[in-house]
Amino acid sequence: MRVMVIYESTRGRTKAMADAICEGVRSKIVDCDLIDATGFQAIGDACAIAIGSSTRMKRPLPKVRQILAEMGKIDGKPSAAFGSYGWSGEAPDFIGNQMEGLGGKLVDKPLRAKDFPDDATLEACRELGRKLAESCKG
Ligand SMILES: Cc1cc2nc3c(=O)[nH]c(=O)nc-3n(C[C@H](O)[C@H](O)[C@H](O)COP(=O)(O)O)c2cc1C
Repeated sequence: MRVMVIYESTRGRTKAMADAICEGVRSKIVDCDLIDATGFQAIGDACAIAIGSSTRMKRPLPKVRQILAEMGKIDGKPSAAFGSYGWSGEAPDFIGNQMEGLGGKLVDKPLRAKDFPDDATLEACRELGRKLAESCKG
């Protein structure tokens, strides 16, 4: 059982969220693949997927947009969206909507952090990771 957490981040803020999500996954004794979007190859046999990006010009960063465009169907797969933002923060909702459009089932509403995630947001990320891990166990 493996959860895949894919992120794109310019200053490490969305990456900090991705790290915390994987921490939550691993706390449930489920493997977590932490993937920088620039090195993404395939979903493979991941039982659940989280995708995160910061917001740039009201959209996710380009590599995450490309992954979403090329990923193909994820019918019924437990899914999550997240990202840091500065002022408007559209990327997580954009990602969540796209994942639902591909058939993914969001385990929670998209998670956002203004600037660097604070302690409460990092805990929310860990909780999201725990939910993804539990969803894998069925
Ligand atoms: C060129 C540029 C455009 C941006 N556009 C937006 C935007 O449209 N909306 C927003 O909320 N934040 C915007 N931001 C702010 C980033 O989303 C914010 O700094 C975020 O914390 C970066 O997270 P990261 O380190 O994970 O990339 C922009 C930042 C830059 C540099």
